[in-house]
Amino acid sequence: MSRRILVTNALPYANGPLHLGHMVGYIQADIWVRFQRMCGHDVTYVCADDAHGTPIMLAAEKAGVSPEAFIAGMQASHAADFAAFGVAFDHYHSTHSDENRRLSESIYSKLKAAGYIASRSIEQAFDPVKQMFLPDRYIKGECPKCGTADQYGDNCEHCGATYGPTDLKNPKSVVSGATPVLKDSEHYFFELSKLQAEVEQWLAAADVHSSVKSKLKEWLDGGLRDWDISRDAPYFGFEIPGAPGKYFYVWLDAPIGYFASLSALLGNDEARLDSFIGADSTAEMWHFIGKDIINFHGLFWPAMLKGAGHRQPTGLSVNGYLTVNGAKMSKSRGTFIKARTYLDAGLNPEYLRYYFAAKLSDGVDDLDLNLDDFVARVNSDIVGKYVNIASRCAPFLDKYFAGQLSATLSPAMADTLGGYFGAKPAAVFAAYARRDYAEALRQTMALADAANQWIQDIEPWSLAKLIEQGSLGPFRTKTGREVAFASAEEVRAALREATTAFVEIFRLLTVLLTPVLPNLAASAARFLGDAAGRDTAVPQLGYTLRAFEPLATRIDPAQIKAMIAASTESLAPTEAPKAKPAKAAPAPAAAAPTAAGDGQASIEDFGKIDLRIARIEQAEGVEGADKLLRLQLDLGPLGKRQVFAGIKSAYPPDKLVGRLTVMVANLAPRKMRFGLSEGMVLAASNDEGGPFLLAPDDGAQPGMKVK
Ligand code: MSP
Ligand code: ZN
Repeated sequence: MSRRILVTNALPYANGPLHLGHMVGYIQADIWVRFQRMCGHDVTYVCADDAHGTPIMLAAEKAGVSPEAFIAGMQASHAADFAAFGVAFDHYHSTHSDENRRLSESIYSKLKAAGYIASRSIEQAFDPVKQMFLPDRYIKGECPKCGTADQYGDNCEHCGATYGPTDLKNPKSVVSGATPVLKDSEHYFFELSKLQAEVEQWLAAADVHSSVKSKLKEWLDGGLRDWDISRDAPYFGFEIPGAPGKYFYVWLDAPIGYFASLSALLGNDEARLDSFIGADSTAEMWHFIGKDIINFHGLFWPAMLKGAGHRQPTGLSVNGYLTVNGAKMSKSRGTFIKARTYLDAGLNPEYLRYYFAAKLSDGVDDLDLNLDDFVARVNSDIVGKYVNIASRCAPFLDKYFAGQLSATLSPAMADTLGGYFGAKPAAVFAAYARRDYAEALRQTMALADAANQWIQDIEPWSLAKLIEQGSLGPFRTKTGREVAFASAEEVRAALREATTAFVEIFRLLTVLLTPVLPNLAASAARFLGDAAGRDTAVPQLGYTLRAFEPLATRIDPAQIKAMIAASTESLAPTEAPKAKPAKAAPAPAAAAPTAAGDGQASIEDFGKIDLRIARIEQAEGVEGADKLLRLQLDLGPLGKRQVFAGIKSAYPPDKLVGRLTVMVANLAPRKMRFGLSEGMVLAASNDEGGPFLLAPDDGAQPGMKVK
């Protein structure tokens, strides 16, 4: 029976561009949506930018633009990135919208009318200069335990102590630098405890991974506490009805943004909206979220929905966190990779979809993007296994049979081919359905492996050679079979039947990969003509292929290198070499006014240049450039860099190896004729002499900052 399914993705904050970690959950949801649609279900897939809150308000202020202009730019950038990665929402909205204001007010009023809202005065840190209350993350000071400076108001990065913001010694507002004072203010609370039983009931029936369920149960067992849902002006958000100067906390209106996006998609038709969000809706509602926000989606949101008389979620799909090369994404290692940087490196977005899918099971484990493994896996699976089947057979079918597949197969061949259909694809679909994409792809690639072995055993190229030579054999295949024919007709029939079977397997694999690789599958479908996408229960025969176009190219490891180089922390805000103004959302932060005049550099200007100690690991001449040396530099914990330096006249390469020098580590990488230059070493010279390479005194270590 066809299901009606509403699918949402966590709404990304409108305070910065998307990075590859974000993409995990969006790709995961998009694959599921495409799969469910393939099964004939009626899926509605929405998302939006999460536009409210203090960080966004302050970021806009810093950029010198209004919050509205700031979030508009971010939204455009997010939408463009999603589109590029094939994440195809039916609608992409904003929480700063009329729909969301209306729905937030409505849900709040219902909660209030039902007696779930209370108010009381609380004491909070207040910035007397900026005249605003400070969220904990906006207060820094010395750790009350060990005295380390510059610690946030919740815990100490040095000694690990946890405390409240009022415990900090010498506290300072991050916003103005002023010493915060304590001030009272009236706040509104959602009395979650009154809905504890209802949330427990919901959780028992909801489709939520067991590990997430246990975590939520743990919180429930500890008892739900009232949730502070108001913030004082100045705040970028919606003012609370009947409470001037008080705003909904961003997390109150954020999940309601799912409904706002849906409402906008439905042309704000109340009846249609109600068929999804009303208490008696028969549609399913699934939220795809990261593991860091399960409390909001597994406690507060179901409680809000219940309290306001709406339906509750059918399930939560929770993804783990992305690491790159086995570690947390890091700006200095160049592994904090923006979605746009990946695209700008010329990497196919579907390759990332494939890699993530291959690592995503239904659990909430973190997943690692190992870049070497990424290259190897994509090149081997997509190009070497899947596309290879078509590219090996298409030329023969084209050349000898005008692309027309056999209409019949020998019984033995029909039998082998039949083994690929029916139960095996059904098992792949079942894995997709439970979001175990790793298993779906494992089984799909096992079919591709078997097909490639079958091709190795038949050797269509050897059959084609017989045709070319007018020979009937015999020849021995690499797998040791002796092959001979009675007539030229038999040779042709053997080649045609074999390539027919292989193309059929290619068609089957295309169907199985469609949710993950929609564009590649669409190109393959053009080649497969009318047979494309038909059933996976039994083979199709006798159809005609269209012209074969190369479907996929291998990843060149140089693309990965360029992506890392472009992601390596450059303190200069204008780093990205190919940054197109249209894609960067709001105007870059307006440069703070400085006293530096013409020809002078302010301390801020100087601070943008990241100078580091480097050890010269290798040095060699560059063919075709007699002044240049190619240097391989070791920056210790920051990794290795390649730079080209015009110092050959003064330094024979072997004299340099092992020496320490000083380099500019955050220059935007430059593609030169001889390779990528990832920085610059420093040397002195004038008309009389040089170059003289700079070197630190004894004791300096590779990677040390020069300041
Ligand atoms: N705005 C909130 C969500 C509101 S939903 C009503 C938010 N935004 S976010 O931009 O910080 O994160 C968006 C999604 O990306 C979340 O699901 C979050 O868990 C996910 N991820 C952010 N960084 C991630 C990784 N490094 N790895 C995997 N997912 C990550 O949270
Ligand atoms: Zn400490």
